[in-house]
Amino acid sequence: MNAVEIKDLYKSYEDGKIKALNGINLTIRDGEFVSIIGPSGSGKSTLLNMLGALDVPDSGSISVAGRDLKSSKKLNEFRAESIGFIFQLHNLIPNISVVENIEIPMFTQKLSSKEMRSRALKLLDDVGLKDKADMLPNKLSGGERQRVAIARALANNPSIILADEPTGSLDSKTSSKILKQLIDLHEDKNVTLIIVTHDMDVAKLADRVIEVLDGEIISADEESLINSKIDV
Ligand SMILES: Nc1ncnc2c1ncn2[C@@H]1O[C@H](COP(=O)(O)OP(=O)(O)O)[C@@H](O)[C@H]1O
Ligand SMILES: [Mg+2]
Repeated sequence: MNAVEIKDLYKSYEDGKIKALNGINLTIRDGEFVSIIGPSGSGKSTLLNMLGALDVPDSGSISVAGRDLKSSKKLNEFRAESIGFIFQLHNLIPNISVVENIEIPMFTQKLSSKEMRSRALKLLDDVGLKDKADMLPNKLSGGERQRVAIARALANNPSIILADEPTGSLDSKTSSKILKQLIDLHEDKNVTLIIVTHDMDVAKLADRVIEVLDGEIISADEESLINSKIDV
């Protein structure tokens, strides 16, 4: 099965004046690690939002983990159970503790509060933050918060992780650490990893680099990347 199949996807804003996605066709295999690069405003986040069923296309089709997003009932549950999101602004809920933030996506599942807590603590342990479980997010550093966001993204063992500039606001040392954690996950659990980045050093770590410009994919494999004029 493919992790992602996108056919003839269009999305515009402002009554069609802004063509954010302009005929995207893309297949991503199960367990693949791809990066999406392109200048600001090229449609990367729009594409990722579509993949996460956070926004609705004007036309075209998207299936994620074998599921057609258009015809989906119970989309919220599907999203919570199959997709892990990591964004640059990690959107942790400020007035609940770190461990409670990680439990949020688990609410769609029928788990006891004890089960939720032990799973959340295990996830926190995996990102090296078990001792911060009871703290509020704003007591943590930027890198630590991003690790909490990773733990939260993994709460339901998603088959696919969507990361939009996950290291964008971090220093290079912290950002390597975060990336390593994501890549380990992809390697150990065969999670499909899709990372949007403007950092070519990050992009190059992927199995495949997809380059977006003006809402179109202008290259999508290693070979064409080598021949293209990407600013490294
Ligand atoms: N909610 C929105 N309303 C209006 N325009 C938007 C919206 N989201 C994105 N856009 C526009 O669509 C284009 C693509 O944006 P985006 O996908 O965020 O690009 P990127 O992530 O590559 O920087 C840009 O011109 C942006 O201004
Ligand atoms: Mg963006």
